[in-house]
Amino acid sequence: MLVKEVKYSPLNVELIRKDFPILQRLVNNYPLIYFDNGATTQKPLQVIEAITHYYTHTNSNIHRGVHTLSRESTEAFELARKTIAAHFNIKNDQQLIFTSGTTDSINIIANGLSRSILKDGDEIILSAYEHHSNILAWQLWAEQHNGKLKVIPLKEDHSLDYDALKNLVTAKTKVIAITHVSNTLGLVTDLEKVKKVAEKHNCILVVDGAQSAPHMKVDLEKLNVDFFVCSAHKIYGPTGTGILYMNKKWLNDLPITKPGGGTIKTVSFEKTEYAEGALRFEAGTPNIEAVIGFAAAINYINRFGMEAIHKHELDLVNYAQYKLSGIPEVIVYGQNPDKAAVISFNVKNAHPFDVGTLLDKYGIAVRTGHHCTQPLMSILCVPGTVRISFALYNTKQEIDFFIEKLKKVITMLM
Ligand code: ALA
Repeated sequence: MLVKEVKYSPLNVELIRKDFPILQRLVNNYPLIYFDNGATTQKPLQVIEAITHYYTHTNSNIHRGVHTLSRESTEAFELARKTIAAHFNIKNDQQLIFTSGTTDSINIIANGLSRSILKDGDEIILSAYEHHSNILAWQLWAEQHNGKLKVIPLKEDHSLDYDALKNLVTAKTKVIAITHVSNTLGLVTDLEKVKKVAEKHNCILVVDGAQSAPHMKVDLEKLNVDFFVCSAHKIYGPTGTGILYMNKKWLNDLPITKPGGGTIKTVSFEKTEYAEGALRFEAGTPNIEAVIGFAAAINYINRFGMEAIHKHELDLVNYAQYKLSGIPEVIVYGQNPDKAAVISFNVKNAHPFDVGTLLDKYGIAVRTGHHCTQPLMSILCVPGTVRISFALYNTKQEIDFFIEKLKKVITMLM
């Protein structure tokens, strides 16, 4: 059964919290405070029930059958594509390919380009912010093809050094693959500056939107980059699915590196003719219920609008940074106005794991460690950080409780 539509005034967090059953649970006898949204967000009833509804009423394989269930599943899946495409302002929904998530999407791009555009000895530019999945696929290619990875360095305020980027580009630079928002620092990349360089030097621009899509409006028509990728599970949707947006010009030009059922028009032992559009890249039975759940998540956040969510989260970031600045033992990284809902910090002379473990005793979930950004940790000269990341259901009261307990943790560790 789908829950009833409820109208919210933006943002009625008290009401919103009722949509997230997990927020009612206790952890270590304290009400859960979930500040690990950068890793994955919690799911509203609307998403949980869309998945239950699908399995209860419609479950069947898609694009393959003439029977009623198969037709209904296919329609629901394709409607999800339209819903998600509209959210990102993708005019032609065939430019939106469902993958298993950000990492899968990046692998499809890197493998496709390695069979077409990239030649031995070419160069790829990444940034100091990248998380591992936007490093490894490119690095693997570079190792096999005598290629070179170049890295946009950080400035003192931890923003990216866009002047240095201009000097990194050479005639051999084919790709700039860059995160839209740093998952560790929350800092936002100035994509317009990067785009200018990419356009001037005819480089392919790949944008990792895993941490921007959950927090801000992303208009892909306006952004007009070559590729944009993100994961559903960081945007209140299920795990195991995400999107790969590709600019029209790539739809037929990016070589297929993951062939399989669903990607074809006709197959014979002599030759295969591949499908056109999104299906060309969607090999095998996809994660149907997750795609449908993803669309439910998108419909859910669009009740409030990304602008309202963004504003709410920035209020929380400002509040938390202000409160943290009052604790002398705390060092906050990446203090810059252009920031999304992520804060990384350390307690002087304490290991982030110890801070995280003790906070958990009070029901507070934070992420600790390298956040899949080991190169960034090396640049910052720290083994890891404590990361708090917010979502639309977090509150200032939660931040107050967190600050109170963090102070307690600090006295325990000193
Ligand atoms: N990359 C995810 C994070 O930032 C898992 O936590």
